[in-house]
Amino acid sequence: MRKTITTALAAVLLAAVTACGGGSGGSAGNSSDDTITMGFAQVGAESGWRTANTKSIQESAKSAGIELKFSDAQQKQENQLKAIRSYIQQKVDVIAFSPVVETGWDTVLLEAQRAKIPVILTDRAIDSDDTSLYKTFLGSDFIDEGKKAGKWLVENSDGPVNVVELQGTTGAAPAIDRKEGFEAETKSNPDIKIVASQTGDFTRSGGKQVMEAFLKSQPDIDVVYAHNDDMGLGAIEAIKAAGKKPGTDIKIITVDAVKDGMTALANGEINFIVECNPLLGPQLMDLAKKVVAGEEVPERVVTEETTFTQEQAKAALPDRKY
Ligand code: AHR
Repeated sequence: MRKTITTALAAVLLAAVTACGGGSGGSAGNSSDDTITMGFAQVGAESGWRTANTKSIQESAKSAGIELKFSDAQQKQENQLKAIRSYIQQKVDVIAFSPVVETGWDTVLLEAQRAKIPVILTDRAIDSDDTSLYKTFLGSDFIDEGKKAGKWLVENSDGPVNVVELQGTTGAAPAIDRKEGFEAETKSNPDIKIVASQTGDFTRSGGKQVMEAFLKSQPDIDVVYAHNDDMGLGAIEAIKAAGKKPGTDIKIITVDAVKDGMTALANGEINFIVECNPLLGPQLMDLAKKVVAGEEVPERVVTEETTFTQEQAKAALPDRKY
């Protein structure tokens, strides 16, 4: 009798451990040991920021002992959807991703939820009413970044200012929010007008191409507001090719503060940069461990960031890691 009870108990315990993915605390992962497997669906390799972000995630996974399955979506939502579905099939312990665009994620995230795989949003947010679809969101406050850019312009302009805006990828959280923040801050000064606004897809070539068109269609451009450094650097090339001096004839404000952007700022070709920190890897791995262990994590973790003037860029450049 006693032997039958013991055997039954052992069978129940074994089933419970298997359901928890080898003791990984409530996620569906099926690793046979305690190693956590993370499926990470990256946006792409569109900018210097993204390259630094990818490196941070890969290096941090390694030092945290997390097995990383990594995919690059080449800025296409359909590729990210495919990658997430394949991570669900592979029964990873946790999925993390930086959504290319804000909308269209509910169905795939429900599939992850049904498979009991926790999801972490990193860098970019999604637009969904169902916040139970992800455990936490780690990243910058993009509206605040746009506000910082607008505030600098308000404080540093005198008289009418015609602004052309190079937007990030259409539908992406940083493009939507950086536009919103900038407009909210500059509306206090009716002299500041956004005379043209178009997407350059967060790439250097996109920024150059759109700026070339702006220079042809807009007779009087005072300021370029670029949603990232790479598009600002592309705009610099277009401005020089048009025989004008970037930073002097046309002022430039960007977001990110990667090395190439900071170098152009220190050289006087950019006038102001709002920092967006790409080094999210260490925090992401900490959150992943907690989520897999079934521990509580904050719904939102905001990255700390600063801004740089030309003088501040000169001082910061020697120690800049990315
Ligand atoms: O989501 C972060 C943004 O995406 C960065 O500012 C930009 O450079 C990148 O492509």
